[in-house]
Amino acid sequence: MADAGFIKVAQVSEIRPGEMIAVEVGSEQVLLVNVDGTIHAIDDICSHAYASLSEGDLRGDEVECPLHGGAFSCVTGAPTNPPANESLRVYSVQIEGDDILVAPPID
Ligand code: FES
Repeated sequence: MADAGFIKVAQVSEIRPGEMIAVEVGSEQVLLVNVDGTIHAIDDICSHAYASLSEGDLRGDEVECPLHGGAFSCVTGAPTNPPANESLRVYSVQIEGDDILVAPPID
Protein backbone atom coordinates (compact mmCIF):
# COMPACT_ATOMS: atom_id res chain seq x y z
CA MET A 1 0.00 0.00 0.00
CA ALA A 2 1.45 3.34 -1.05
CA ASP A 3 2.07 6.02 1.54
CA ALA A 4 -0.24 9.04 1.44
CA GLY A 5 0.60 11.48 -1.31
CA PHE A 6 2.44 8.98 -3.50
CA ILE A 7 1.03 8.25 -6.93
CA LYS A 8 2.02 5.65 -9.50
CA VAL A 9 3.74 7.26 -12.48
CA ALA A 10 5.60 4.52 -14.35
CA GLN A 11 7.00 0.98 -14.24
CA VAL A 12 10.58 0.20 -13.24
CA SER A 13 10.81 -2.06 -16.30
CA GLU A 14 10.25 0.99 -18.57
CA ILE A 15 13.54 2.63 -17.51
CA ARG A 16 16.72 0.62 -17.75
CA PRO A 17 19.92 1.72 -15.94
CA GLY A 18 21.31 4.76 -17.76
CA GLU A 19 17.89 5.76 -19.11
CA MET A 20 15.40 8.49 -18.20
CA ILE A 21 11.81 9.41 -19.02
CA ALA A 22 9.54 12.38 -18.32
CA VAL A 23 6.19 11.85 -16.57
CA GLU A 24 3.38 14.04 -15.28
CA VAL A 25 2.86 14.31 -11.53
CA GLY A 26 -0.20 16.49 -11.03
CA SER A 27 0.64 19.67 -12.93
CA GLU A 28 4.40 19.05 -12.74
CA GLN A 29 6.65 17.47 -15.33
CA VAL A 30 9.03 15.12 -13.55
CA LEU A 31 12.16 13.41 -14.83
CA LEU A 32 12.63 9.79 -13.71
CA VAL A 33 16.21 8.61 -13.98
CA ASN A 34 17.64 5.14 -13.44
CA VAL A 35 21.15 5.54 -12.02
CA ASP A 36 22.74 2.11 -11.58
CA GLY A 37 19.38 0.53 -10.76
CA THR A 38 18.14 3.27 -8.41
CA ILE A 39 15.26 5.48 -9.58
CA HIS A 40 15.59 9.20 -8.87
CA ALA A 41 13.01 11.92 -9.58
CA ILE A 42 13.77 15.61 -10.22
CA ASP A 43 12.12 18.44 -12.15
CA ASP A 44 12.14 17.76 -15.89
CA ILE A 45 12.06 21.44 -16.80
CA CYS A 46 15.46 23.11 -16.61
CA SER A 47 15.77 25.85 -13.98
CA HIS A 48 17.74 28.09 -16.40
CA ALA A 49 15.18 28.67 -19.15
CA TYR A 50 12.58 26.33 -20.65
CA ALA A 51 13.78 22.97 -21.88
CA SER A 52 12.85 19.35 -21.14
CA LEU A 53 15.86 17.64 -19.59
CA SER A 54 14.50 14.29 -20.82
CA GLU A 55 15.65 15.43 -24.28
CA GLY A 56 19.18 16.01 -23.00
CA ASP A 57 22.00 13.59 -22.27
CA LEU A 58 22.41 11.41 -19.20
CA ARG A 59 25.98 10.73 -18.06
CA GLY A 60 26.21 8.69 -14.90
CA ASP A 61 24.15 10.60 -12.34
CA GLU A 62 24.23 13.90 -14.24
CA VAL A 63 21.78 15.13 -16.84
CA GLU A 64 22.83 17.73 -19.41
CA CYS A 65 20.27 20.23 -20.67
CA PRO A 66 19.71 20.08 -24.45
CA LEU A 67 19.38 23.86 -24.79
CA HIS A 68 22.49 25.52 -23.29
CA GLY A 69 24.44 22.60 -21.87
CA GLY A 70 23.74 23.27 -18.20
CA ALA A 71 23.89 20.14 -16.08
CA PHE A 72 22.36 18.85 -12.84
CA SER A 73 22.81 16.03 -10.37
CA CYS A 74 19.91 13.60 -10.75
CA VAL A 75 20.36 12.67 -7.08
CA THR A 76 20.39 16.11 -5.41
CA GLY A 77 19.00 18.34 -8.18
CA ALA A 78 21.99 20.65 -7.70
CA PRO A 79 23.47 22.41 -10.73
CA THR A 80 26.83 20.95 -11.79
CA ASN A 81 27.60 22.96 -14.91
CA PRO A 82 26.76 26.55 -15.94
CA PRO A 83 24.68 28.31 -17.11
CA ALA A 84 22.44 26.30 -14.76
CA ASN A 85 22.71 27.89 -11.33
CA GLU A 86 19.46 27.04 -9.53
CA SER A 87 18.68 23.62 -8.09
CA LEU A 88 15.89 21.47 -9.42
CA ARG A 89 13.34 20.11 -6.97
CA VAL A 90 13.76 16.51 -5.87
CA TYR A 91 10.76 14.23 -5.51
CA SER A 92 10.43 11.32 -3.08
CA VAL A 93 10.34 7.95 -4.82
CA GLN A 94 8.87 4.64 -3.65
CA ILE A 95 9.11 1.35 -5.48
CA GLU A 96 6.34 -1.25 -5.07
CA GLY A 97 7.03 -4.32 -7.12
CA ASP A 98 7.44 -2.94 -10.65
CA ASP A 99 5.60 0.30 -9.86
CA ILE A 100 7.35 3.66 -9.44
CA LEU A 101 5.49 6.02 -7.12
CA VAL A 102 6.36 9.67 -6.67
CA ALA A 103 5.17 12.25 -4.15
CA PRO A 104 4.65 15.90 -5.09
CA PRO A 105 7.46 18.14 -3.84
CA ILE A 106 6.74 20.10 -0.67
CA ASP A 107 6.92 23.76 -1.71
FE1 FES B 1 18.83 24.46 -19.60
FE2 FES B 1 19.59 26.89 -20.45
S1 FES B 1 17.60 25.99 -20.55
S2 FES B 1 20.82 25.35 -19.53
